[in-house]
Amino acid sequence: GLGVINIPVYFHVVYSNAEENVSDAQITAQMSVLNEDFRKANNDINKVPAEFSGIAADSEITFTNAGTFRHSNSTGEWGTRDAVKSAYPPITPSTHLNIWVCNIGGGILGYAQFPGGSSSTDGVVLLYSSLPGGSAAPYNEGRTATHEVGHYLNLRHIWGDGRCRQDDFVADTPSSDGPNYGCPSFPTVNCKSTDMTMNYMDYTNDDCMYMFSEGQKSRMRAIFASGGARESL
Ligand code: ARG
Ligand code: ZN
Ligand code: CA
Repeated sequence: GLGVINIPVYFHVVYSNAEENVSDAQITAQMSVLNEDFRKANNDINKVPAEFSGIAADSEITFTNAGTFRHSNSTGEWGTRDAVKSAYPPITPSTHLNIWVCNIGGGILGYAQFPGGSSSTDGVVLLYSSLPGGSAAPYNEGRTATHEVGHYLNLRHIWGDGRCRQDDFVADTPSSDGPNYGCPSFPTVNCKSTDMTMNYMDYTNDDCMYMFSEGQKSRMRAIFASGGARESL
């Protein structure tokens, strides 16, 4: 197999005030969350219920910080139409994950581009206050990055963005009829099966999501194989 895959990351911190100019320590903490979550080394993995513990996956994907670039800019809110990427283009996106940290606005925590899109907009955008220790509680433990990097690596939302029959193209994630929010009690049953509400690709609070599944691991890792959309990483 491919073994452990390491992805080098460039951070672009774009700020209009001191709070948006997140510290190096916060970026280091964010990197730790990504590495823990993608290697099943998160300290809340033991919360996975027995029904799903057998398919909680070590994705064998790691991340290293290849550089942090800081840009002061008077723009207050960047939106979700890639304006921040036009202002500060991705650096070698064929070999690096680019992450922009900025004030998105509109209550948006983050957004990502799936594999196969334009290289000029490839990467992930994070709300500055979603990083660990930020002010976006209950979304301030760094799991917005985990969720968005999941999209960047080809994962869909756990409910398939539709009703029960809509698929996320992952066999071991039970179907659901929509997102779960907050911190759902277990079991939460929809579409005649127990929702995997604790999956990183649902919409629950940061401290209520703590696993990827084996099927998601396979779907992510397929894009690194020969001919896959992120083979060049
Ligand atoms: N709503 C965003 C998306 O669909 C991010 C959700 C992040 N959730 C969280 N608990 N941090 O991409
Ligand atoms: Zn999402
Ligand atoms: Ca599924």
